[in-house]
Amino acid sequence: MTQRTALVTGGTGGIGTALVRHLIDQGHRVASNYRDRDKAQAWGQRMRELGYEVTLVHGDVSDNASSQAMVEEVEAALGPIDILVNNAGITRDSTFHKMDYQQWSEVVQTNLNACFNVTRPIIEGMRARRWGRIVQISSVNGQKGQYGQANYAAAKAGIHGFTISLALENARYGITVNTVSPGYIATDMVKAVPLEVREKIVAQIPMGRMGHPDEVARAVTFLTAQESEWITGANLAINGGHYMGW
Ligand code: CAA
Repeated sequence: MTQRTALVTGGTGGIGTALVRHLIDQGHRVASNYRDRDKAQAWGQRMRELGYEVTLVHGDVSDNASSQAMVEEVEAALGPIDILVNNAGITRDSTFHKMDYQQWSEVVQTNLNACFNVTRPIIEGMRARRWGRIVQISSVNGQKGQYGQANYAAAKAGIHGFTISLALENARYGITVNTVSPGYIATDMVKAVPLEVREKIVAQIPMGRMGHPDEVARAVTFLTAQESEWITGANLAINGGHYMGW
């Protein structure tokens, strides 16, 4: 197996931590950005104790200049980035008639514009080397909509438009670009949803439970493998049957 350099944005988060671990298990060198130094250091220490060495670089993916600097730092430390997982995401849930511009723009900036900020400085190198794997982490709610998430659903749906355009433009350069759309995964982000609302949501999931971050990470390692080179422009739903659109 070829060892490659991978960047997972938001790697210290709920799904991100599983993504980082699975990519390291595949033999890759893995970096993640962070915003809060203390939190990141504590996380890095826990990962080290589990045997996972992760390169942590400061970077705010919602900011263009910060993202460029972050990519340069990762490449200086680990070499050219061959695998990119645009995973960083936030929620600012509110019904639309109560949503303010800040709730809207923070989510669009972090969940959608970050795809531009981080991918743009990486894509030229991938094209020059004629190899790349890019995965965007979207959401079931970008596919079906969600009460209280006009901002999040808009950004997450937009992500897949980005994926399929990039997939078209870069297929002949050996670069695959795919979306993974997780359903409700048991992470801190989902646990922030009020319990009674969460119970109603779980009741809508045919599998009868929330997902595990590892179940998402397995799909990402599959899509980023050498052998997956004919899979591009796909949107892989991992949601326990919550939404079965096609
Ligand atoms: N369908 C229909 N009606 C709904 C509803 C739904 N899904 N959810 C709420 N309502 C109704 C309530 O029953 C209530 O009705 P009444 O006024 O008649 O009692 C009304 O809407 C409440 O509306 P408000 O505008 O007053 O809402 P609120 O301020 O109480 O809070 C909310 C609304 C913030 C959206 C809250 O319901 C909530 O947190 N919902 C969960 C949103 C969610 O799923 N977020 C996912 C976060 S995790 C994630 O995003 C990861 C991922 O990718 C899956």
